[in-house]
Amino acid sequence: MLQHLCNRDTCMLALGGGVVGDLVGYVAATYMRGVPYIQVPTSSTAMLDSSVGGKTAINVPAGKNLIGAFHQPHVVYADLDCLVTLGRRELVEGIAEAIKMGCIRLPALFEVLEAEPARVMALERELIESVIYDGVRGKAEVVAADEREAGLRGTLNWGHTVGHAIEALKSPALMHGECVAIGCVVEAELSLRMGNSSLSREKIERVTRCFASYGLPIHVPRDLEISMLMKKMALDKKNLGDSIRCTIVTDIGVSVTNPQPVDKKLMETVMAESIAAGRALEQWKPHEGKVAVAAAGGQMAPPYSGIDAF
Ligand SMILES: NC(=O)c1ccc[n+]([C@@H]2O[C@H](COP(=O)([O-])OP(=O)(O)OC[C@H]3O[C@@H](n4cnc5c(N)ncnc54)[C@H](O)[C@@H]3O)[C@@H](O)[C@H]2O)c1
Ligand SMILES: [Zn+2]
Repeated sequence: MLQHLCNRDTCMLALGGGVVGDLVGYVAATYMRGVPYIQVPTSSTAMLDSSVGGKTAINVPAGKNLIGAFHQPHVVYADLDCLVTLGRRELVEGIAEAIKMGCIRLPALFEVLEAEPARVMALERELIESVIYDGVRGKAEVVAADEREAGLRGTLNWGHTVGHAIEALKSPALMHGECVAIGCVVEAELSLRMGNSSLSREKIERVTRCFASYGLPIHVPRDLEISMLMKKMALDKKNLGDSIRCTIVTDIGVSVTNPQPVDKKLMETVMAESIAAGRALEQWKPHEGKVAVAAAGGQMAPPYSGIDAF
């Protein structure tokens, strides 16, 4: 950029998935002490999560997101047609974060995702538009109220205490959204066991079925050891002192603003039960192949209209 004589009236464009968005955002945050940038997210994760909220970062050998800055994009422009070329597994990975968003604060979003997995995965225009719109709205509201994660923004971390620990041990075999799906199911169970009876057994089953209906995993992988998971969890940014902290969902669409301390024995028990329940079933397998787009005569705009499968 220096060689190209870019100065402070430069505006950067982040066209791509979350990796591109985070990198361009970080460069925009630091170049000449900050230039404007526009996010044009092309993956479901980038549309629903990384392009909104102004967190930018790069990974270094010591760990993920350790060097970064808060820098809000001037505009986020999401073209839903981009989703057509994503793999089905990548599409669904981003949807895990939308299910999470529904559970923490938008019950109507959860209900749509719960009711229509096939049509959402087929990218039926009105549905996918409402899912992305509501997911973004939910995140934007949270970030507008609490940009620096002093409280409310922490609710976005639901499922991520357990999810990050699994991801640290299973990446790249499991993707972030897949680990978050497992984490949400485990953390929902924790909530009930901690006495939040309004997140009833029946509601936990609905949440679990919803993740599963998108082909996301819902059990802690059988080859993981609880002690290793606990060690990883001890490094979580939400912890205070020696305690492990999780965002707590108390009902579908309702969550506690600040992460709460969780008894370590209870965490171990719930994770062990999750592994045992998974062992009783066939091993989870990810989706293969591309997104199967809604059939001809459906809602996709040109140039994709008429394409019904890849
Ligand atoms: N800043 C934040 O708040 C935030 C939030 C969530 C995730 N993230 C970051 O985002 C990254 C994950 O984002 P991601 O899942 O988009 O990963 P990614 O950017 O690596 O994209 C995944 C893959 O999909 C490809 N791709 C992107 N759009 C495509 C399209 N329309 N069609 C076909 N292929 C396409 C990419 O080239 C890449 O190979 C991680 O680095 C994560 O740390 C940041
Ligand atoms: Zn996440």
